[in-house]
Amino acid sequence: MTTKCVDDFRLKLGDMELVPIMIGGMGVDISTAELALEAARLGGVGHISDAMLPTVADRRYDTKFVKEKLKQYKYNVANTDKSEVKFNLGQIEEATRLHVSRTMEAKRGEGMVFINCMEKLTMNAPKETLKVRLNAALDAGIDGITLAAGLHLGSLALIEEHRRFRDAKIGIIVSSLRALQLFLRKNSRTGRLPDYVVVEGPLAGGHLGFGLDDWMKYDLASIVTEILAWLKAEQIDIPIIPAGGIFTGSDAVNFLERGAAAVQVATRFTISNECGLPDETKQEYIKADEKDIEVNAISPTGYPMRMLINSPGIGSGIRPNCEAYGYILDSNGKCAYIEAYNREVAAHPDAKKIKVWDKTCLCTHFRNFDIWTCGHYTYRLKDTTRQAEDGSYHLLSAEHVFKDYQFSKEGKILLPE
Ligand SMILES: Cc1cc2nc3c(=O)[nH]c(=O)nc-3n(C[C@H](O)[C@H](O)[C@H](O)COP(=O)(O)O)c2cc1C
Repeated sequence: MTTKCVDDFRLKLGDMELVPIMIGGMGVDISTAELALEAARLGGVGHISDAMLPTVADRRYDTKFVKEKLKQYKYNVANTDKSEVKFNLGQIEEATRLHVSRTMEAKRGEGMVFINCMEKLTMNAPKETLKVRLNAALDAGIDGITLAAGLHLGSLALIEEHRRFRDAKIGIIVSSLRALQLFLRKNSRTGRLPDYVVVEGPLAGGHLGFGLDDWMKYDLASIVTEILAWLKAEQIDIPIIPAGGIFTGSDAVNFLERGAAAVQVATRFTISNECGLPDETKQEYIKADEKDIEVNAISPTGYPMRMLINSPGIGSGIRPNCEAYGYILDSNGKCAYIEAYNREVAAHPDAKKIKVWDKTCLCTHFRNFDIWTCGHYTYRLKDTTRQAEDGSYHLLSAEHVFKDYQFSKEGKILLPE
């Protein structure tokens, strides 16, 4: 086994030299500004997320974006057709600017803060809303943008006129060589390569870029090896950042020694004080056993998602709340949850409360931290902390987890004091 630790390596992004640890974006405000800022203070890269920023801004900065949208569309609440429910682009812009600028003003240290931007948040006007979100984040001084949850074939074109287009760091998350090749081909016209590529394997948290029935046939190391070999053959120089199931510093070193530029990690930080999940939910993550974690198809985005099977949002048959939220509505104002909900209502006309098992109302449940998405190795979190006499587990500081990744050797995990 190697005697190296992550700190023996550096991530080079342009003229920046960083600790090669990136904390991945976790929506809706699970990867908080506080968590991202800790990563930056410690010399690495943190992510905030741009998922549902109007509601995040209401909670954090006392704005009233959700109330205003609901007021405007209240007449439509009982209507099954949501195509009229549009976002006010000015409000999205304001929410993004607010969250990004407040975060960047608080930044200390040598590291960077990026924003995770999901293409699948289609918001009933995919192109227009994504354009506003990306440009507002650049305006507000974000260090970089990670393009996530989608192929992003047209995303660079949406920001190529921005004065920071060439100076901000821009990366993409892919789960296969094919997706990377497609992204490079479709965006070549902009004359700009991504500054980094996160290669996310099937053990990650959140949505997966693999099929529901075949994710277990893939492994991160093979995908990374294939991508590194192709880039070398093509003489393309882009830092590659593996993600998904990298649980210890030694796991990270394995990738760094094979040519990765950094690693992206998330699950171990879900039980940090700085993570946005409620403390009781963090205890659920720590308590989980392997059998308590599943990959299912209930996300209306169409991507499989990994989560704890006791997530309160599973099976919940709440009325779609698109007039307040509506982030998953596609370009025709449709969402798979609305269809599933309407089907169940029609099948049980007299029921006061219905159950919907095949899809979930992702906006409302994510907003309320009721879908507990998690990485495959969540069941190992109990090995990273101590249990108190009352049975509860100690939460960790983000600094503790970050430094454990940075300095640990031989597969060891440092427990808190
Ligand atoms: C709770 C949670 C929420 C996540 N949400 C997102 C997200 O909103 N967007 C995204 O691109 N990735 C998301 N991810 C994936 C992470 O950013 C990261 O790439 C991955 O989980 C790394 O693997 P690990 O959790 O095994 O360390 C999420 C992961 C977790 C654990």
